[in-house]
Amino acid sequence: MVRVLFVCLGNICRSPMAEAVFRQMVREAGLEDQIEVDSAGIGNWHVGDPPHRGTREVLARHNIPYDGRARQVTRADLKRFDYVLAMDYENLADLRSLAGSDGHSARIQLFMDYAPQAGTREVPDPYYSGKFDEVYALVRQAAQGLLAHIREEHGL
Ligand code: 4NP
Repeated sequence: MVRVLFVCLGNICRSPMAEAVFRQMVREAGLEDQIEVDSAGIGNWHVGDPPHRGTREVLARHNIPYDGRARQVTRADLKRFDYVLAMDYENLADLRSLAGSDGHSARIQLFMDYAPQAGTREVPDPYYSGKFDEVYALVRQAAQGLLAHIREEHGL
């Protein structure tokens, strides 16, 4: 089993969208028994909440289901998941600091690095900007790149 965790600040906007989009791609590829997908947030403000309305609307428009609730990332996640994908540099720094010297920081990467053609290394936070469609377009590109990478790397 290959385990993938998407991480943003609140786990209500970007990372649940990435989780939902990527899970749908994994399902379409018939790999749901080989690839586990989850998401979590750096902060605990929204623990237990469903995704932000903006994320729910974008997913609904694209017929992508999601029934997860926000949770906070833990040190155990950094051991358990093979890919820990940060939405921006701040999430990346926070995750590396959480990993400390445990040696798990190699699994922590910027999600957008799987879409070099997108021209940005960060998924911008839509919480105040409201730009959820822009998040969707970026997430979709990186999710495609990530799935191609995992299939190649793990022979799936
Ligand atoms: P996310 O967006 O990190 O993409 O889930 C945010 C959600 C909540 C907050 C900030 C960003 N907040 O400050 O509560």
